[in-house]
Amino acid sequence: MSRNKKHYKLRVDRLLIVAVGIAAIITVVLFACSDKETDNGKLDGSLLNTDNESGLGFVASGITEFSDRPTEITDFYAVTDGNGSAVTDVNGSEVTVKVDGMIDETGIVPPNESTSQTSEGTDKKTETSAFTQQQDKPKSPPYTPTYMKYKGKDIMVVNKSYPLPKTYNPGELESYVQSAFDEMKKAAKQDGADLQIGSGFRSWEKQNELYDKYVKRDGVAKADTYSARPGYSEHQSGLAFDLTPIDDSFSGTKQDLWLQENAHKFGFIVRFPKGKENITGYKYEPWHLRYVGKEFAEELHNYGLTLEEFFNIDSKYN
Ligand code: DAL
Ligand code: ZN
Repeated sequence: MSRNKKHYKLRVDRLLIVAVGIAAIITVVLFACSDKETDNGKLDGSLLNTDNESGLGFVASGITEFSDRPTEITDFYAVTDGNGSAVTDVNGSEVTVKVDGMIDETGIVPPNESTSQTSEGTDKKTETSAFTQQQDKPKSPPYTPTYMKYKGKDIMVVNKSYPLPKTYNPGELESYVQSAFDEMKKAAKQDGADLQIGSGFRSWEKQNELYDKYVKRDGVAKADTYSARPGYSEHQSGLAFDLTPIDDSFSGTKQDLWLQENAHKFGFIVRFPKGKENITGYKYEPWHLRYVGKEFAEELHNYGLTLEEFFNIDSKYN
């Protein structure tokens, strides 16, 4: 090899070494400056909502303790593994957060429970934190049915704020609601409770007729406490019905007591419970059942929530 060629090769080798060196330095610097950071934080906040899409995500607020700095996080969003751990992003850092007692293996996030010690021992105190799913405002006329999500499933909502269009008319109870009722009726009969539907599907026109009659008898203000205006009744949805007797004498009957214990197992909720009159917009109606599906009915039953509370919505006429 000539002297010139040798010199040239030496220069290329040196340049290669310098380039590799620079690349290595850039990699180290980039890695050090990376905003990804994994840390074990502990979320000590209150539940705001489940992510009904996946059933595993949730939103909460609280303090997460990075090893070196407690950081307040609000509207924390995470997808959990269902075992009390979650991965989220806090100010650009990836954080694994332990979520105590807020998530069970099915992905349902129950209301926040906290345990406090008393001199007598452990006193389990349950705080019911609000489910604050933000919903779209009611549609303006011509109305379309409103659906809200529970674990990815559409739940039709009909109340004083969320009407149905006049044309919405399934004609009878939805077949799956009728089947669920038939199954429930059979089980109730075995326990000595006789369930009879006294009023099932009602069209817009039928509801109009009924409401009109009640207004003439009792006036608007009183009628509005027990009868829905046309377009605002769950009976028009084909998802709800009244059991006999459709009056206050239903309260305390064998049927009433049986339903309070068992209706949710068949996918039904007592839609207008006692003590929730200002939330549902209606007086206590132990005879009015609404189908929402087994899983949702069970969750509402277990936490004693109405649809209005679960979805954080109003039931008020405009
Ligand atoms: N009684 C209930 C509220 C209805 O009329 O739909
Ligand atoms: Zn009813």
